[in-house]
Amino acid sequence: MSDEVTTPAPEHAEKKEHKKQKKEKPAEEPVLMQKLVSLAKRRGLIFQSSEIYGGLKSAYDYGPLGVELKRNIKNLWWRTMVHEREDIVGIDASIIMHPKVWEASGHVAGFTDPLVDCMDCKSRFRADHAPMGDGGKIKCPNCGSQKLGEVRKFNLMFKTNLGPVEDSSATVFLRPETAQAMFVNFLNVQQSYRLKPPFGIAQQGKSFRNEITVEHFTFRSCEFEQMEMEYFVPPPEFADEGKKPLDYYAYWKAERLRWYTETLGIRAEKLRLREHAKDELAHYANGCADVEYEYPWGWGELEGIASRGNFDLTQHSTHSGKKLTYFDVDKKAHYLPHVIEPAAGADRTLLAVLIDAYDEEPPPPEAKGDNAEPRVLLHLDPRVAPIKVAVFPLIKKEGMPERARDIIRTFWKNGVNAFYDEKDAVGRRYRRQDEVGTPFCITVDGDTAKDDTVTLRYRDDMKQERIKIADALSLVAEKVRVGGRDVRLNR
Ligand code: GAP
Repeated sequence: MSDEVTTPAPEHAEKKEHKKQKKEKPAEEPVLMQKLVSLAKRRGLIFQSSEIYGGLKSAYDYGPLGVELKRNIKNLWWRTMVHEREDIVGIDASIIMHPKVWEASGHVAGFTDPLVDCMDCKSRFRADHAPMGDGGKIKCPNCGSQKLGEVRKFNLMFKTNLGPVEDSSATVFLRPETAQAMFVNFLNVQQSYRLKPPFGIAQQGKSFRNEITVEHFTFRSCEFEQMEMEYFVPPPEFADEGKKPLDYYAYWKAERLRWYTETLGIRAEKLRLREHAKDELAHYANGCADVEYEYPWGWGELEGIASRGNFDLTQHSTHSGKKLTYFDVDKKAHYLPHVIEPAAGADRTLLAVLIDAYDEEPPPPEAKGDNAEPRVLLHLDPRVAPIKVAVFPLIKKEGMPERARDIIRTFWKNGVNAFYDEKDAVGRRYRRQDEVGTPFCITVDGDTAKDDTVTLRYRDDMKQERIKIADALSLVAEKVRVGGRDVRLNR
């Protein structure tokens, strides 16, 4: 037994993030978070996993609108990172990989948190997050006791068994990051697609970490989705001036920060790049920066961008015994490319998008009934919004529902997610759509049959205009269209 515990040094590159969260954990979630969690449940965005059984603390389910929002975010990332570039391709690898992958990557030995048990209240907590007690020694965050057990390394990877035998030879892990599949498939992709560095391999998918502290709704959970890209570049000695690994590192930092504002519509003043100090860097990295968002509890990581040298390919080459070099025909030399890695999280991005979009407007002084309530709305970018346009018949007769459904079908044919609603007064229907961030509402009324016009209502300023149906279709389609951005190719 030991109570000689001080804050242990980080043991893995990914640990940086856990360490940092110490300052961020509030006693209670800020009011905005409480409102958002309630809205997320009420409107079918995000539910607690297995809620009817009391819920699973560290897992969440996306409901009908949440799944749309998440898909939109992931599709926008894929478009920006893969479809709109000549130099990046995608893969979709398995979650369970050969266990040696995680030995080579350093996860088996080093992806750990230091845990300690309290002898008095029996709670288990992270030694590096614990408060200081007397004599420069940590104390239990639960009961304050300094009677503590030994600090033990707790690996964050989930273990399972492959096949029917439950011995150590069958132990495999659920991947704690998607990145390693890009490294182990480096040559498969490079050779089958005949790629020349600089080029990137991108992947989206689930990752799993047995996080000790799960916090802030979906911000930190045990099962989450990552969107990662490994960009393989010539090492400095084979690179032209202006195209060295650190030049690409600078390029990707700017490019990724831009994505959150330009593509997702997050407010620029709520985002920043935080360059890591030298002592935060893993031994092999020569640069690492986080794109951070100002969450209601403080600044926190959205995405990490790291310049990883050739560490990963070297490790996999050594552990697999396979040569993973690239042969540069022009330079007549074999080399191991260096890697720049922008690693984002889909769930965390979605949470930041929701927080950033949430707004409440006080009612006008003369307002009555439903209109006397504050207007809750999400200022979601139309490209991200789960529903792009809602179409209402003013009343449920005189051919209005049929006409509204015709309009909906035209949107669907054009790839625009449109929603039909005929319940309650139109004002209420508008409010329901505001709350889930639907940017446009269209109302079919008695005049529609006469002149093919409808009322188009805008979410943010609630302005309404009378326009031709065809104009409404093109206006909405143009606003929700993804892609078409002027991409600066990096060759
Ligand atoms: N391959 C590098 C890597 O995995 P990371 O900083 O550990 O780096 C990248 O993870 C991103 O994945 C984070 O910026 C975050 O958005 C997301 N992420 C990591 N752990 C998470 C967790 N427990 N819950 C939700 N998202 C997480």
